[in-house]
Amino acid sequence: MKEILTLGIESSCDETSVSVVKNGREVLSNIIDSQIDIHEKYGGVVPEIASRNHIEAISRVTKKALKEAKIEFKDIDAITPTYGPGLVGALLVGLSYAKALSFAINKPLVGVNHIQGHIAANYITYKDLEPPFVCLLISGGNTILIHVKDYTSFEILGKTRDDAVGEAFDKVARVVGLGYPGGPKVDKLAKNGKPNYILPKTHFENLDFSFSGIKTAVINLNHNTPNISKEDLCCSFEKAVTEILIENTKKALEQTKISKLVLGGGVSANIYIREEFLKLQEKGIDVYMPDIKLCTDNAAMIASAGYYNFIAGKRSNLDLNAVPNLKLS
Ligand code: KG4
Repeated sequence: MKEILTLGIESSCDETSVSVVKNGREVLSNIIDSQIDIHEKYGGVVPEIASRNHIEAISRVTKKALKEAKIEFKDIDAITPTYGPGLVGALLVGLSYAKALSFAINKPLVGVNHIQGHIAANYITYKDLEPPFVCLLISGGNTILIHVKDYTSFEILGKTRDDAVGEAFDKVARVVGLGYPGGPKVDKLAKNGKPNYILPKTHFENLDFSFSGIKTAVINLNHNTPNISKEDLCCSFEKAVTEILIENTKKALEQTKISKLVLGGGVSANIYIREEFLKLQEKGIDVYMPDIKLCTDNAAMIASAGYYNFIAGKRSNLDLNAVPNLKLS
């Protein structure tokens, strides 16, 4: 079988990342230039600053990715950039670079949906994993239950009606005084706490989620309770959120009659969430979750998804535009 090399380019938020992946599964390089230190002092990602830093980094990161993979531009079969969802200015940097490269070296351009990339992180972690399965995608921008019918065919089963889980984690962290990025800090602090605070959980008839009620309850508790234990508050928040995620995921598995569950997105790096989801295995569910370093944004997952788009015959034109609210279809 001919080896296919895809060059993944990711710049949807605050990571400039370029990766070379072989046949969708084997990572030859995955360079991630994170801007966390730059945005930390502002308490969150500043879109304009993110774009400027992507511009400064993109060429250098690409050269490094090729060097580490020990290949040259001519060896690449397809250039596969993220074109949405994400911050428009940030997306445009990676996408414009990819389009220019595609024109200059005469290689096909294949646009990738960032959410599809988060799912594909699992194809790298588990070499034998194949669709169909149910995916719970939990990141800073999305909380979605997806029926992954095939590598390029998806059905949305449920999604958040307000905040994404990662967004709620980041907000809670800010209120409690932990700073940015919040998720990993809440994760760490919650380990030393007890779930002593009762928080409201919103339920819907269908498989949708809502996290703004929990978030507001945490903010109010923190504001109104003298000497509140931040550890207990983080632990209670994490437990309530996990219960909601598990409840809806179980319903999605029942509804689709599928017993294969895949997690994805930055929040799937959360230790408590991983532990709780692994317990579903006792109920006969096969549970998959990306290697921790592939949970948050990286270009290897984009190159993997790009490979599956490429072999499905998908091609993008040079007028491909960035789509900040791109949906999975
Ligand atoms: O997937 P990602 O890198 O970016 C998006 O595509 O949105 O996810 C970033 C989100 C942030 O909200 C961050 O706080 C959260 O993932 N996150 C975590 C953890 N690590 C990252 N949330 C909870 N626990 C963690 N360990």
